[in-house]
Amino acid sequence: MRRAIFPGSFDPLTNGHLDIIMRSSPLFDEIIIAVLNNPDKNPMFSVEERRDMISKLLPSTANGNCRLMVESFSGLTADFARERRATAIVRGIRAVSDYEYELRMALMNRRLEPNIETVFLMAAEEYSYVSSDLMKQVFRLGGRVEGLIPELVEEKMREKLS
Ligand code: PNS
Repeated sequence: MRRAIFPGSFDPLTNGHLDIIMRSSPLFDEIIIAVLNNPDKNPMFSVEERRDMISKLLPSTANGNCRLMVESFSGLTADFARERRATAIVRGIRAVSDYEYELRMALMNRRLEPNIETVFLMAAEEYSYVSSDLMKQVFRLGGRVEGLIPELVEEKMREKLS
């Protein structure tokens, strides 16, 4: 059983995240999309809202026989991965600028849990500049984000801001 976790804030989920899930799904039997419960970061969506949106959007993303699940967690990613008996942590890399931050996290996670490998996947070029923060900022200021986030997420952002 090859089980991975894909941890993140997912506030909100973007097409870049879905692209990473789709790319990683042939590599694992199970992937847990692990939504960090981070109330101190003042997220736009509660952890329940983020989980709910992701659950609705996952079925069309599955690739091969990989089982996709959504869970939330608090505390350390390495602890959550160990508790779920995952052997890998999946993270996407969009550009060189992501590398340093991701490298530090991967090395820290390896120190905390030497048996779990971080697996990096390169995001599709068309999403290489897409981040949740940028999507929220552009959307709040009335810019177009279609094609970069799922329609459901756009609807929920509209509801939030109305
Ligand atoms: O989508 P994000 O916000 O870039 O995801 C970052 C995340 C959630 C993977 C990272 O902040 C994290 O792992 N937080 C949990 C706390 C933790 O384990 N910190 C040490 C990581 S080295």
